[in-house]
Amino acid sequence: RKEGYRYFMEKEIYEQPRVLADILTGRLGEQAVRLDELEADWLRPISSVTLCACGTSYHAALTGSYLLERLARVPARVEIASEFRYREPVLDPNGLFVVISQSGETADTLEAIKLAKAQGLATLALCNVDNSSIVREAERTLLLRAGIEKGVASTKAFSAQVLTLWLLALYWGQARAVLSGERHARELTALRAVLNVMQVQPRVHERLHRLSKRYLHGHGFFFIGRDLFYPLALEGALKLKEISYLHAEGDPAGEMKHDPIALADAELFTIALMARSTFYEKVKSNVEELSARDATLIAITTEDFELADDIIQIRPYDHPMLEFFEMLVVVQLLAMEIAIRLGNDVDMPRNLAKSVTVE
Ligand code: M6R
Repeated sequence: RKEGYRYFMEKEIYEQPRVLADILTGRLGEQAVRLDELEADWLRPISSVTLCACGTSYHAALTGSYLLERLARVPARVEIASEFRYREPVLDPNGLFVVISQSGETADTLEAIKLAKAQGLATLALCNVDNSSIVREAERTLLLRAGIEKGVASTKAFSAQVLTLWLLALYWGQARAVLSGERHARELTALRAVLNVMQVQPRVHERLHRLSKRYLHGHGFFFIGRDLFYPLALEGALKLKEISYLHAEGDPAGEMKHDPIALADAELFTIALMARSTFYEKVKSNVEELSARDATLIAITTEDFELADDIIQIRPYDHPMLEFFEMLVVVQLLAMEIAIRLGNDVDMPRNLAKSVTVE
């Protein structure tokens, strides 16, 4: 049941704080993160991690690679499952192979974990469906605890994947004792704040609803960001594309001048993820270059930014992951509002299925 929401997607966006609370239950202690599904002794001998997935789950994997390198200091690489299995990959025999899948049935991801297992790697699945094919293959599993996700466009499962990866990175960092006490405490404090961050603010939803009508026509959308906000840019573009059928792409803000800027004009809407916590000045200068080419700019930021045609004001946080989750809600709602205005069924976008069991 949609419980008063217009679409399951909307309901699932609003459910995110509850999902995140479920994920943290029993895992967020005073002094440390606990993950009973894993043991520190299991992780300690592992020398690298490969994260593998498709679609939105791939964007979670990419986000996770930043977190794992930063917080656990393990070398992390990311693979698109459909590419991985055909390119004769060379894997670290002491590595951990992590697959991420909402459904647990994605054919390419399933084959990827089989391949890694056959090469003797330790395997871990992050999955929302217990007893799915991927869970059955994996040596260890972290269930996502997101509840059934009905919308084809993944929202709460993505936030669950990212939060679970953040916990994994911190847990692993604890096991390897690589974080300073101060850094560790800062992460725990941020984790405690994450639920509030994902609460949809009526002011923001209303603003996105009103803004969405300005962006129904044009050449398309650029989502740009740096660091953690690059995978978020990819996810914002995917979400918009899959339910609105408008062209959208996500790019690292620093790549603009190497190619995408060639497209810039007033009919190209640039959604700039301008996080105060993360290379703000660098992103700002990338955005200024686009503005000089007359691009229409929509800035998601805490700051005033005079070059922006529209600003979506977010709350200030000093931790990048809190800014990440705050902006995630914005890009999800923006995609949904644009698609609804276009008259699309956002729960069942054309040509897409919830579970992709063929390659
Ligand atoms: O079930 P999975 O997480 O393995 O699915 C992977 C993709 O098919 C999926 O994330 C797809 O991109 C979504 N429709 C995105 O919203």
